[in-house]
Amino acid sequence: MMNFLELAQTRRSLRTYKDTPVEKEKLDYVLEAARLAPSWKNMQCWRFIVVEEAAGKAALADSMGELNPGRKALTGAPIVIVLCAVPKESEIWEGKDYMMLDAGLAMEHLVLAATEQGLGTCWQGLFTEEKVREALQIPEDVRVVAMTPLGYAAEERRPRPRKAIEEIAFRGKWGKK
Ligand SMILES: Cc1cc2nc3c(=O)[nH]c(=O)nc-3n(C[C@H](O)[C@H](O)[C@H](O)COP(=O)(O)O)c2cc1C
Repeated sequence: MMNFLELAQTRRSLRTYKDTPVEKEKLDYVLEAARLAPSWKNMQCWRFIVVEEAAGKAALADSMGELNPGRKALTGAPIVIVLCAVPKESEIWEGKDYMMLDAGLAMEHLVLAATEQGLGTCWQGLFTEEKVREALQIPEDVRVVAMTPLGYAAEERRPRPRKAIEEIAFRGKWGKK
């Protein structure tokens, strides 16, 4: 069993997938992990759409710009999970949109649970929301926040660099090491 740091180190953005289907129990498991995420006033603004049909996945790939390296992952993976958020189920506080944070927390729960189950994912933000809305019949008052392919990856990747701990964590006051 991986401890949390090992899990965080194992997760990578994976863009090439095998045809191997995802077991229903694993799909249920990752959605349950998302369901348990914390949120603003426990309002749980997130909604997930599980897309398995080829036509749906092709439409999602079409919503991506040509330059998005994740585009091919959406047609290659057996499942794409689309993350939506209901604005009235969260709040903007002092100009900060907690809906986006809530939705992101739930999605990252899903992503890490998938990693633990041996499944690959890749956060996707570079898409045209209106095209996704149309393809999946998402109401006008719901935002499409992100999506990820879900499946068994057909590639391994080396970790991408991260900032040093001294750059991101301070002691006592801003900037103090
Ligand atoms: C909110 C968000 C949006 C992202 N959008 C895309 C995307 O549209 N296409 C893509 O290929 N990768 C996308 N990524 C993946 C990042 O490029 C990736 O997480 C980053 O380079 C670090 O690499 P790693 O995930 O393998 O550690 C996104 C990641 C996040 C968190």
